[in-house]
Amino acid sequence: MSGWETETVSVEIVVPDDWHVHFRDDEMLAAVAPFTARGFHRALVMPNLVPPITNTTTAAAYRDRILASVGPDARGDFTPLMGLYLNDDLDVDDLLAGHRDGIVFAVKYYPAGATTNSEAGGASLAGYRSALEVMAGVGIPLLVHAESTDPEVDIFDREAAFLEAELAPICDEVPELKVTVEHVSTRAGLDFVRGHTGVAGSITPHHLTCDRSDLLANGLRPHLYCKPVINSREERLALVAAATSGDPRFFFGTDSAPHPLSDKESVSAKPGIFSAPHALEVVAELFYQRGALDRLEAFVSLNGAAHYGLEASAEVVRLERAVGEGVEGATTILSADGSEVRIFGVDAGRRWSRLSRRCC
Ligand code: DOR
Ligand code: ZN
Repeated sequence: MSGWETETVSVEIVVPDDWHVHFRDDEMLAAVAPFTARGFHRALVMPNLVPPITNTTTAAAYRDRILASVGPDARGDFTPLMGLYLNDDLDVDDLLAGHRDGIVFAVKYYPAGATTNSEAGGASLAGYRSALEVMAGVGIPLLVHAESTDPEVDIFDREAAFLEAELAPICDEVPELKVTVEHVSTRAGLDFVRGHTGVAGSITPHHLTCDRSDLLANGLRPHLYCKPVINSREERLALVAAATSGDPRFFFGTDSAPHPLSDKESVSAKPGIFSAPHALEVVAELFYQRGALDRLEAFVSLNGAAHYGLEASAEVVRLERAVGEGVEGATTILSADGSEVRIFGVDAGRRWSRLSRRCC
């Protein structure tokens, strides 16, 4: 073997956070949550269950179910942070009490009809102006699914359209509001974050590593279908540049969103990509390929915590890249009710191993 073939690459980082995850409930929750608990210090849990999580009581009960499903080993090392779903059922006094008591961490806005389980979402962000002002006053972050639902707007332009029409006025009128543009998928999203104080952006592993040619060019790939839809190569490369730059306004949110194969391989595939098992390895491989492994920690472990005013984890994890292709792993998981879910990033998963966490 020549020298380069035997060279082991490794990186040690503060244990990361996942600032955007979907756990679902019941058997699916039990099947997917352990993957996140194993790899992450915290996870910001999306509230788009059916019915959605709109109050402190249901958020607390959901948090208990999540903790029960991750198992006793992970429980001490993993904290789920709960989001409430912004719609007309949200009660501001309940939100304030839930936030004060440490149950509610953030509020998520879904435009009605934009994505999975968004039917209960809002018709317009402006309609929640008074709740947003209260949130700004006490520092409750607003998480935004930034996608226009205007059928006249092209699917690849919907992020830009929403940001301009709906989020820009709120950021101007409620400038103290802390905002996260979730799963930024375009340069318009990046520019919006850069142009507004107090606004940050989460970026997913799939928007960083796939573009619409991967989705559409070699057979329609429903397992790469998500919302916002992955965009052009140009947009993707801009996301990669932002993520690998160390810019503190951008951080990691997997948007891991499991759907059974029957819902993905269907005439109308549901949007969502299950990435929790190898999401970290996918971005490690990307940063490695870009010669940016020294900035991986900022993106996955430090920037998000700083945006939310939290300490980063006090533990570190070592990631090691295999010299060859590594050991082949499973391509799907199976929940106890028989649902099979495709795992994203299996190739990166076999390349990289995580060595156990330890205190720094
Ligand atoms: O692709 C997506 N799937 N995007 C979302 O915004 C929601 C998510 C889900 O819940 O499946
Ligand atoms: Zn999501």
